[in-house]
Amino acid sequence: MEIRSDFLIIGSGIAGLSLALKLSKIGTVSVVTKREICESATFYAQGGIAAVVAKEDSFEAHIQDTLQAGADLCNEEVVKKVVHEGPKVLEELIDIGASFTMKSNGDFDLGKEGGHTKRRVVHSADFTGKAIVNALVTAANEDDRINIFEDHIAVDLITTSKFIDSGLINRCLGSYILNKKEKRVDTFLASDTILATGGAGKAYLFTSNPDIATGDGIAMAWRAGASIANMEFFQFHPTCLFHPEAKSFLISEALRGEGATLCLKNGNRFMENYHEMKELAPRDIVARAIDSELKRTGDDCVFLDISHKGKDFVIERFPNIYERCLSLGIDISKEPIPIVPAAHYLCGGIQTDMEGKTNINGLYACGETACTGLHGANRLASNSLLEGLVFSELIFNNLSQKERENIENFPAIPSWNPGSAVDSDESVVVSQNWDEIRRLMQNYVGIVKTDKRLERAKRRIDLIQAEIGDYYWDFIITSDLLELRNIATVAELIITSAMIRKESRGLHFNLDYPERNDKNWKRDTILKQPPI
Ligand code: FAD
Ligand code: SIN
Repeated sequence: MEIRSDFLIIGSGIAGLSLALKLSKIGTVSVVTKREICESATFYAQGGIAAVVAKEDSFEAHIQDTLQAGADLCNEEVVKKVVHEGPKVLEELIDIGASFTMKSNGDFDLGKEGGHTKRRVVHSADFTGKAIVNALVTAANEDDRINIFEDHIAVDLITTSKFIDSGLINRCLGSYILNKKEKRVDTFLASDTILATGGAGKAYLFTSNPDIATGDGIAMAWRAGASIANMEFFQFHPTCLFHPEAKSFLISEALRGEGATLCLKNGNRFMENYHEMKELAPRDIVARAIDSELKRTGDDCVFLDISHKGKDFVIERFPNIYERCLSLGIDISKEPIPIVPAAHYLCGGIQTDMEGKTNINGLYACGETACTGLHGANRLASNSLLEGLVFSELIFNNLSQKERENIENFPAIPSWNPGSAVDSDESVVVSQNWDEIRRLMQNYVGIVKTDKRLERAKRRIDLIQAEIGDYYWDFIITSDLLELRNIATVAELIITSAMIRKESRGLHFNLDYPERNDKNWKRDTILKQPPI
């Protein structure tokens, strides 16, 4: 089947849906999403959206905090733009029906998180993502010009150089998409394609991310010839619940903003040994401090304690976290919470300019899948939802001013060719490789790296890549196989980038080069390859 629209958006998180609602004013929009529409990292966001809305705050302070967290690798122009647009995009979100926690005087109830010098995190108790997604989904469902395709997973981008003529300037024409229910690969064509596919936390064994976070957009863009930047900067969130039944449950940084303290099992606090901001130091520092305490003591976890704030406060401010922990037998209003750091956010991704454009004509990227220059070497807490909203706006501005190519004039596009692929008889290959990748990333490419660990990781990922390569073309594709292939590519890009950077900066810490080296490394790590 061939499906045509003016715009094709892959992904239905904050970036994809907020952009769809804007683009539908100037054309028809297909939104493709690999599970149900609500399933995204956005849905699980807890802390909130950083924006300058308080009288005591200033754009300058938010800019400085972002630059400081980013360890001198942010693009200052991008930081300024995103911070200045914050109040406007927040207002737009409220206009479409998102509601946030307010104080009795009508001001926003603002949270505080690591690296922020002011209270500036707008939130909806501790289920901010759910409040945002509900509003975006309702608005998108009501919009006649937006067509939503659930349970459709993008396989690969369709580009001129790969499918039409390798001599042409590379231009994206759409994507091959697997309709999971019908088990059929359809051809989606559009004047402009936007990747809003989110992050890649599933590359690691322990992650706060939902299962959809398999780096598909980055892997597809890489295969199509897009530049990929700063993949070595993977953010570990310091506080994820440590419990055998708590798959990827986050304990928001906002708890520390309200005074929660970190301690060892003997009750001793330790953050004062690592940074003057203690529990509210930037995330890279807190995660490394916990990692170092775990290695020193040999314990499985450390603890986060908010019990001194009392039951009423805890239930009102953190109802979601309170309920989830209680269901696992932990009453956070009375006892400390066992926590460990876990892979949380990929600062690198598809390199874009300030209008969300990639180096492939007709291909844009926004949200966590993109590397826009906002986060540098370490993202400031709650700047991600903000980035998703602002870059949708910037892409919309670009596309609404650009003359659109008529898709009817596109050359004939070949349908998906499954070749001689047959149904797989050995899906154990997929689960075995998944498991291996996640373990090797956790053990060798985690919070603290060394050259030796990276070399080991590289040797193993090369073998796994070769095996997946053989397997991929022999068997009929499934979403598991597509995701495995993509996560392997993303793992390889992370390892390669980490091997290139011979210093420690922000989230990238290599024991063989423990110091920052501005002379040689105050620059982005950019990977490029011709389309494959
Ligand atoms: P996502 O919201 O992840 O959406 C990606 C979409 O792409 C999904 O719909 C997915 O199904 C779809 N997709 C992926 N691959 C394909 C494919 N091949 N084909 C079709 N569809 C595909 N940030 C903050 O700023 N504040 C917070 O409070 C905060 N809390 C967080 C809490 C948790 C538990 C987590 C995991 C993250 C949190 N973050 C927070 C980070 C933030 O939520 C994400 O970075 C942000 O939501 C990413 O939005 P996105 O639209 O780029 O991607
Ligand atoms: C949190 O609530 O701790 C997550 C905030 C973020 O990742 O920005």
